[in-house]
Amino acid sequence: MSTAKKEYKRITTKSLVEMKRNGEKIAMLTAYDYTMAKIVDHAGVDIILVGDSASNVMAGHETTLPITLDQMIYHASSVVRAIERSLVVVDLPFGTYQGNSRNALDSAIRIMKESGAHSVKLEGGKEIAESISRILTAGIPVMGHLGLTPQSIYKFGTYTVRAKEEDEAEKLKEDAKMLEELGCFALVLEKVPAKLGEEVAKELTIPVIGIGAGGGVDGQVLVTHDMLGMTHEFSPRFLRRYLDLYTEMNNAFQQYIKDVKSKDFPSDDEQY
Ligand code: KIV
Repeated sequence: MSTAKKEYKRITTKSLVEMKRNGEKIAMLTAYDYTMAKIVDHAGVDIILVGDSASNVMAGHETTLPITLDQMIYHASSVVRAIERSLVVVDLPFGTYQGNSRNALDSAIRIMKESGAHSVKLEGGKEIAESISRILTAGIPVMGHLGLTPQSIYKFGTYTVRAKEEDEAEKLKEDAKMLEELGCFALVLEKVPAKLGEEVAKELTIPVIGIGAGGGVDGQVLVTHDMLGMTHEFSPRFLRRYLDLYTEMNNAFQQYIKDVKSKDFPSDDEQY
């Protein structure tokens, strides 16, 4: 295994498999709008996920369930207009692929055609195999998502760590293998024990990107607004905050209000 870092002008699904083979970890972050996507892409992140977490982060819903396909396409097309290097993955929202593979294919085609994104992500294993296969027949790259799958929150009832018990861990491993065999180009593993994350990453040849899945996987993903510290109410153990933007922004807004009220803003230099 080489540790030399290859420079990629543009990340493709092939580059990601190559990165795994070369032992280079993959960095993935979310973005839902043009301005954030531009900053994230220029920073050099490998994958930008237009996650259905937009339902929480952008729209303030309690879960990811309410976001619609049209809203995901709006977010995805804004992101695509900003990027030069990253691979863009878009979540298929709840209700657009489960239990109906024709519907799944139509939803994936709409995302690819109307947003210009490069791939889609679906949550689940065996139960959505037919939908994944059908999307793949259209030449659309698919990223899997196992472990904590927020679209099924009402089935599980909590956001706690998944697959701690042997039987759930076994099912997850079987599903992961199946997703690779179907032809998924990568897999997100959310909130599972680090040992299980490492085992799955070792077993598969496709990259496994973790969020709360330990350091033994092939890459990491975080929700950008969380890692920037814009959200205060969400503090899982796996989250590393790189900034406290909530406080920084709050201070800036308060200073602006003060300047407007005191007539300090605008100064002579800030008017025509
Ligand atoms: O929607 C999202 O942001 C996600 C990540 C948490 C992986 O699916």
